[in-house]
Amino acid sequence: MNRIFSGMQPTRQLHLGNYLGALRNWVALQDQFESIFCIVDLHALTLPQDPAVLLSNTREVTAAYIAAGIDPDRCIIFNQAAVAAHSELAWILSCHTPMGWLNRMTQFKEKAGKHRENAALGLYAYPVLMAADILVYKATHVPVGEDQKQHLELARDIAGAFNRHYGNDFFPLPEPQILGEATRVMSLRDGSKKMSKSDESDYSRINLTDDADTIALKVRKAKTDPEPLPEAVEELEKRPEADNLVTIYSALAGTSRQDTLGQFAGQQFSAFKGNLVDLAVAKLAPISTEMNRLMSDVGEIDRILRHGADKASAIASANLSDIKDIIGLLRP
Ligand code: TYM
Repeated sequence: MNRIFSGMQPTRQLHLGNYLGALRNWVALQDQFESIFCIVDLHALTLPQDPAVLLSNTREVTAAYIAAGIDPDRCIIFNQAAVAAHSELAWILSCHTPMGWLNRMTQFKEKAGKHRENAALGLYAYPVLMAADILVYKATHVPVGEDQKQHLELARDIAGAFNRHYGNDFFPLPEPQILGEATRVMSLRDGSKKMSKSDESDYSRINLTDDADTIALKVRKAKTDPEPLPEAVEELEKRPEADNLVTIYSALAGTSRQDTLGQFAGQQFSAFKGNLVDLAVAKLAPISTEMNRLMSDVGEIDRILRHGADKASAIASANLSDIKDIIGLLRP
């Protein structure tokens, strides 16, 4: 049975990178796979969080999943902290993960920065919890943006190490699904930086909650260069900001970058941006409207999360029992 697992952190608002790199693909994949989508609130704790904001962000990410088109009747949607098996398996897996593997993780190095001694143990162990998220469901496929590739390779290595150690093939090796034109959406202010929730400039990203006027303003202010749009994709290579806007347009329009250039080659970016605004507003404004509607009934969001957590727990605890049997841990 093919099963998808993926998740997002409830830290600040979701942005266009989260949508094009992951969420939009989940919506398409829910028809082909048994799908489990998590709001990874325990991962959010790896950086300082305000309790009230964390709680509200967890509900808001749930609303974003549903507003973007994830069907809570067909998919399991829940928050990570509601299913204890994730943390339990994370401990077990951490005892099967050499520190050398974690020392290679680039995201830890970026997030810990210069003050590595002060970084929380949880930030270092983050990829092990992520492996546990996936493996506790024996998920076979994991749709994510490109920045999660290294974490997923680690999850495969951990699954392989466990299987070899106990001489079985209990865990499937999860396949990353990095799909579409926009696997790495870049900042609107600097084409060499990833679009990210943590960028201090709100103009660097389009949030899923932005209204039409804000989207238009951000696209108009987006950095570009003075050249018109080229004819061939290869000519975008040394023009990161131009490349990013063409990529965003293509992903939103569901076409290739070459087709977008076929349509706009020779035009100035000021003209292209007008088309990008119209497209972005047409695709994103309905999501933000639906999110607002869903957020007006928090009780319903909590009900969906509780229902999802019950279904997720049933799968995760059965797998965890098998894992305990394999390891020799006595269970009630
Ligand atoms: P997070 O919350 O940082 O991002 C959620 C998803 O959005 C993708 N993404 C992007 N894609 C394209 N361009 C961007 N600029 C961009 N920024 C973010 C991410 O690749 C991701 O797919 N560690 C994960 C959460 C997680 C998880 C898991 C994912 C925890 N456990 C198990 C899959 C399976 C994370 O921090 O995502």
